[in-house]
Amino acid sequence: MKKLMAANWKMYKTWGEAEATARDLVDLAASKLPEDREVLVFPPFTALKAVSDILNPVDGFSTGGQDYYYEDEGAFTGEISPVMLADVGAAYGLTGHSERRHVLGEDDECVGRKTAYGLSRGLKVILCIGELIEERRAGRVHEVLERQLRIGLGGVPGDLDPEQLSVAYEPVWAIGTGEVAGPTEIVEAHAFIRKNLISLFGKKANEIRILYGGSVKPDNCGDIIALDNVDGVLVGGASLHGESFSRIVLA
Ligand code: 13P
Repeated sequence: MKKLMAANWKMYKTWGEAEATARDLVDLAASKLPEDREVLVFPPFTALKAVSDILNPVDGFSTGGQDYYYEDEGAFTGEISPVMLADVGAAYGLTGHSERRHVLGEDDECVGRKTAYGLSRGLKVILCIGELIEERRAGRVHEVLERQLRIGLGGVPGDLDPEQLSVAYEPVWAIGTGEVAGPTEIVEAHAFIRKNLISLFGKKANEIRILYGGSVKPDNCGDIIALDNVDGVLVGGASLHGESFSRIVLA
């Protein structure tokens, strides 16, 4: 199973800035990328075609959409579909990011519909889950992760190809705060996620990648990626520059 090193550029970068960063990333990382690593970039929608044109021809590099709606087309102002993402070169889609949940108000049912729909349309989907600090302090981490997985994956068929799905554990309190989760917290949460995935999909769930996200930086990535059940990382702030993200990719 290749480690998936993913960049979430969120609502950053104009088209030109995104192109420049994608080129930097290829210049700095492409020739040194180990066989067992895959690089994925989620640019803003407006730069997806430009970044796909640069990354898709490079071995081991691909792009994805940060969000999408659960229809192919229709009167859904402001939304875009998995078909449209694929049309501009995206292989992946992200669902349930904490900013979609907690800033834009998406609930578990909405995230679940998006996850199942994207998979049914051939996108590889990364479902993001993670607890708030209040939930961790109240001892509710397992309850929250179990619910987000059960509802978030509720519509996914049992005959799922495990390579099509990844889960990203992103504790909300570690996102953009500089406060990375400790190794014990990461290993414990990822083991719990693996156990739940196995109960949903059986033994093949060992091939579903589980990524960690939340204040991943060039100097902590090597330690994080070596932990049990950590099959990749999902990086925000430190992915915005080719120089720092290439160090993460090669860590
Ligand atoms: P940071 O790496 O900036 O903490 O963001 C993590 C994240 O939200 C990735 O999706």
